[in-house]
Amino acid sequence: MYGGPVKIFGAELAHPVVNGSGTFDALAARRVFGEQLDARFPFAAYVSKTITLEPRPGNPPPRLWELGQGMINSIGLPNKGLARFIEEDLPAYAMLPAPLIVSVMGFSGDELAAAVEALGERSEILAFELNFSCPNVETGNIVGSSPEETAAMTSLLRGRTEKPLIAKLSPSSARPDQIALAAEQAGANAVSLINTLPGMAVDPSGGGPWLGGGGGGMSGPAVRPVALAQVSRVAEAVEIPVIGMGGVSCGRDAREMLDAGATLVGVGTENFRDPAAGERILAELRELNQSSVERK
Ligand code: SIN
Repeated sequence: MYGGPVKIFGAELAHPVVNGSGTFDALAARRVFGEQLDARFPFAAYVSKTITLEPRPGNPPPRLWELGQGMINSIGLPNKGLARFIEEDLPAYAMLPAPLIVSVMGFSGDELAAAVEALGERSEILAFELNFSCPNVETGNIVGSSPEETAAMTSLLRGRTEKPLIAKLSPSSARPDQIALAAEQAGANAVSLINTLPGMAVDPSGGGPWLGGGGGGMSGPAVRPVALAQVSRVAEAVEIPVIGMGGVSCGRDAREMLDAGATLVGVGTENFRDPAAGERILAELRELNQSSVERK
């Protein structure tokens, strides 16, 4: 039965569709639509934009390059920093009609541990997603590219909170199964993949990188086959749940991600094109269910 409730992290989610971190601003949506949003909230759990200990302005513009089948972003993790996140955003997130997964990143183990520790007891939070795989900042992908680093960082954080930990993996590893296993053995409760593929756009006016950050991360329908291959490989290797994402833009894509072994499906880039995409994708997923029943 596709699109039904899912038990994960000791909670029962209404369905398997969640957002990719940084692709849907639930707080802005709630400011605009108020309580109307609650009845049509598109995700079964909400994953926040990645936060870091200190505030960050993000990368210089331009930050986006559009492709026929996706885009390259060089956002660079802009965020208000942990202290303001706790003061301003956590109470607002608690009003959402879906459990909260907080995405965290650190430029050292100590930074990440401090963030997880400060948030580790907060009842508003269901789980942490550990962003080991951002290609847009200098050290962003170091942990996610190495099983040893992934294991060391996960076990450091495992000691700092009882809450479930989700390791977000990079598609740039040739052996994502080894990275996922390292995360599992070090105490991660789930893995999510894929983050964006490292990419580059050249300035059409005469060479050099177009994006302010130099390179960027590619996402959208073009990366979906890569995501499916990696989700499938990882799901065969680990016992913990896999949150599969990468180019999902319709119900059939979501079903393929579940068939590849994912427990939850993340919708990312499609949210920029259609902020109601999560709701549509879930409805399409359930319709596919119906049509396969009718075919029997
Ligand atoms: C960004 O803010 O650079 C995107 C987040 C990510 O790639 O992890």
